[in-house]
Amino acid sequence: MKVIKKIDDLKVIDKKRPIALIPTMGNLHEGHLSLVKQSINLQLSPLVTIFINPLQFGPNEDFETYPRTIKQDKENLEMKKCEFLFLPEKKELLGGIKKLKAPYSNLLCAKKRPGHFDGVITIVNRFLELINPEYCFFGQKDFQQQLIIHNHLKKNKLPTKLVVGETVRDANGLALSSRNNYLTQSEKKDASIIYKYLKEIADKLRQIRFDISKDLSMCALMICDEYKNKFEDKGFEIDYLEIINAKNLEKSKQDDTDLLIAIAVYFKGVRLIDNLPCDLSFS
Ligand code: PAF
Repeated sequence: MKVIKKIDDLKVIDKKRPIALIPTMGNLHEGHLSLVKQSINLQLSPLVTIFINPLQFGPNEDFETYPRTIKQDKENLEMKKCEFLFLPEKKELLGGIKKLKAPYSNLLCAKKRPGHFDGVITIVNRFLELINPEYCFFGQKDFQQQLIIHNHLKKNKLPTKLVVGETVRDANGLALSSRNNYLTQSEKKDASIIYKYLKEIADKLRQIRFDISKDLSMCALMICDEYKNKFEDKGFEIDYLEIINAKNLEKSKQDDTDLLIAIAVYFKGVRLIDNLPCDLSFS
């Protein structure tokens, strides 16, 4: 694996195949590594970036304590046959950076984390400009993030194609996240109820769809209330639990078929997010 630190060195990389940009903040887990694998399977050259982006952390968030595990990350990437690793220096990367505003800034994660997605799109755009990759890969777990990137590519008519990798889960169903490292094994097991409840909610929505006397948006609100209580009984603090249109993140309406159940909770002081797409079309 070729490790690149200087922006100028990006310009001279030996491009044997189309580049798949995989931006990360390190502390890599199977979710990230599955994107590397997926890109190799598609005959692409993975270029992973590791940069803990200060622009996307709020003043009371975990920027200082965010896990920094570069040695282990490098070993994992080598093992997965990653081709390029870009480890930019903060000063060079952020110097003179063009700050962007992200859409959907009053929805889901953006409500509790003002400015977070501005920081994300600013840094991702910087990587896109520097690398001009044929593809970029993001995980579906960060659903709002990938939608913002999708919009950014479309709005700016950028040639880079977006590939969204499926959420990778542990054996109990907890979505993999670097922040899971803040939890003990038994807390992780308890947190896996998130996925169990998401699946239950999806089942309920499918039943409702087959009953034309029921108002989907009303039922969605009732289901969310019911499950918020269930989560609270188990010691979770809810940030949001919403059933929304997966294309625009707006509250679900009667005829919507492409839904998303999206959740963010605090558990033992750790913020966890997850989501489950729910296709309600009859086909
Ligand atoms: O998903 C992440 O880890 C970050 O938001 C990203 C895309 C690497 C930007 O810093």
